[in-house]
Amino acid sequence: MASVTVVGTGYVGLVTGVCLARSGHTVTCVDIDPRKVEMLRSGTSPIYEPGIEELLADGMAAGRLRFETPEGGWRGLIGDVTFVAVGTPMAANGSADLTAVRAVVEALAREADRPFVLVMKSTVPPGTGQALKQRFLSQAAAPIAYVSNPEFLREGHAVHDWFHTDRIVLGSDDTAALQTMRELYADIDAPIVTTDVTSAETIKYASNAFLSTKISFINEMANLCDCIGADIDAVAEGLGLDSRIGSQFLKAGIGYGGSCFPKDTRALDFISTMNGYQFTLLKSVIEVNNRQRLLPVVHLTRAMPDMHERAIAVLGLSFKPDTDDVRESPALDIIPLLLEEGADVRAYDPVAARVALPAGSRRVESVWEALRGASAAVVATDWREFVELDWRRVREQMADPAIVFDGRNCLDRTAVEDAGLVYMAVGRPGAHREG
Ligand SMILES: NC(=O)c1ccc[n+]([C@@H]2O[C@H](COP(=O)([O-])OP(=O)(O)OC[C@H]3O[C@@H](n4cnc5c(N)ncnc54)[C@H](O)[C@@H]3O)[C@@H](O)[C@H]2O)c1
Repeated sequence: MASVTVVGTGYVGLVTGVCLARSGHTVTCVDIDPRKVEMLRSGTSPIYEPGIEELLADGMAAGRLRFETPEGGWRGLIGDVTFVAVGTPMAANGSADLTAVRAVVEALAREADRPFVLVMKSTVPPGTGQALKQRFLSQAAAPIAYVSNPEFLREGHAVHDWFHTDRIVLGSDDTAALQTMRELYADIDAPIVTTDVTSAETIKYASNAFLSTKISFINEMANLCDCIGADIDAVAEGLGLDSRIGSQFLKAGIGYGGSCFPKDTRALDFISTMNGYQFTLLKSVIEVNNRQRLLPVVHLTRAMPDMHERAIAVLGLSFKPDTDDVRESPALDIIPLLLEEGADVRAYDPVAARVALPAGSRRVESVWEALRGASAAVVATDWREFVELDWRRVREQMADPAIVFDGRNCLDRTAVEDAGLVYMAVGRPGAHREG
């Protein structure tokens, strides 16, 4: 079993750390944020992710998991295999901001007190690994082998995805390092794609760009369905049963959000442009997604031209269910637009509580508090709690015109309409027309 270090204990790093500890490795998780490290030492996960706290408790009880800050320097913190899993957020120009990645790799190279394998788990643009090797690793105090090992887990299913991944991608020109990685992942039954560093980095971006394309494609089809009176649910079902296409990511709605698809599509577009290539399809995918998240506001303003002081409930702040992650969540774009129309916006989410909402809106503690007296409700996240609502009770709580905008096409339209509510959705026939 290897000694492993994971730098960054966010959604990816923490999952990497606790899962490798479960597999029997000895893991040191390092984060620059002392509050996170303190929380983790006390057995509390800073993120909401099903199953993570059990693995955290098990790993710590077994003495295979510890949490540190790099404050006192990296000596003694570097493992045989050291993962980098820090954030690579979107910079203002759409590129990936590699500040944290560079800071960590530079410090590791400077303070390396032993040979080790440096594994890049953060999503970094094609070419980054080669640049890091040239700039930092070539000057390192001890030999460092570099492996690109992009991560494909889904928030909300991260622990499951770690152990049941569709594939493991390893990019390196160092055969010994590749062998170390195969041994590290020996208990995971998944095909391993071995390639060069730049191709491994590209696989990650290609995957997210393709999934985003599927989403924007089905959203375009849904918008067309609204124009021609076809039912997107039936269209998606008939389409997805074609095994060459597949049924996943064919759910129409208000578009993708989260910490990966928006920034990774933008970063790939940026990289394409910087390399003299116009990735036209990708540009359209991004544009469609930006437009799609405005749909609830477009349709609500049409149905209620004067929204001034009307109460509107926004149900769901996280970008998808089973996570507290609100990064690039459509709800956070919808709320300011509703405020601009003069609406009194109340937002509710079963889990995501940490986000600062735009001034003028308020977060409430229950779905009923959000719905009481509201003229409209926007379901922005398909949390089970919203799917299972008692629609007759909802109708009693809401004020006229009592519109439910199903931004995720997740509700039982008949149940909503039978309760006397006005149902609007994306590409479901008849919806929107009431206004
Ligand atoms: N979140 C996902 O679903 C997901 C999936 C696949 C890949 N990724 C990629 O993985 C990477 C990490 O994403 P995330 O969502 O876990 O990010 P995150 O923001 O949740 O976590 C990053 C962590 O790194 C820490 N950090 C920042 N600088 C540091 C430093 N110098 N030293 C030590 N720790 C430092 C931060 O305090 C934070 O805890 C990104 O590149 C992302 O694109 C994310």
